[in-house]
Amino acid sequence: MKIFIDSSKINEIDKWLKAGICDGVTTNPSIMCKEGVCDIEKGAKEIAKLIAPRPLSVEVTTNVPKEMLNQAKKFSQWADNIVIKIPIINQDGENCLGVINELSKNKIRVNATVILSLGQLVLAAKSGASYVSIFSGRLGDEGGDAPLLIKRARQWIDLWNYPSEIIVGSIRTIIDIQEAIIAGAHVITIPPLLIDKMCDHKYTRETVRQFIEDSKKTGDRG
Ligand code: E4P
Repeated sequence: MKIFIDSSKINEIDKWLKAGICDGVTTNPSIMCKEGVCDIEKGAKEIAKLIAPRPLSVEVTTNVPKEMLNQAKKFSQWADNIVIKIPIINQDGENCLGVINELSKNKIRVNATVILSLGQLVLAAKSGASYVSIFSGRLGDEGGDAPLLIKRARQWIDLWNYPSEIIVGSIRTIIDIQEAIIAGAHVITIPPLLIDKMCDHKYTRETVRQFIEDSKKTGDRG
């Protein structure tokens, strides 16, 4: 199972690369905007270079499928490891399967994003998406059962031997991460703050403190 960093912050990405747990990075326009990356091209090129050959997902910024195609072709020229995020449908409900298929046929890797149902996931995988991104937190916001969807998606992908990898994103809590692990996600994309939280445990800290205290009694201070 892979872990991607759901962020555009270079220092955070570098930190987790050096910890050996970063298998890739995902971004979206909201993440970039919130984190002060206003120049998408400059920001994407910098991240792509840092993490190469690991994949970096960069999302299109238009609602028009034809324009998505042109943008995707342009973005994919920025670096070999750039994967293009295409929403499964646009804001008007028009499907983007033709865009996904055209890009895939042109050997441009696609991360089909904002997936909230098994039907959407199946269509995205069939149209050629390399990654299919289930939005766990947003699904939960609407009363949906993300672990169940992830589990069923993984069963379907394995049954029919599709090459698409399931990314679980929109992670809000540590339990979201644990549920995604158990349900069979190929990749979980996690905001840096939550990786820190995932590693921490107050009883681990307390146990380490106890060992340090007791080691002082042995007189061996290293
Ligand atoms: C990752 O690929 C997604 O874009 C991201 O995890 C979405 O997170 P959000 O639902 O918190 O905006």
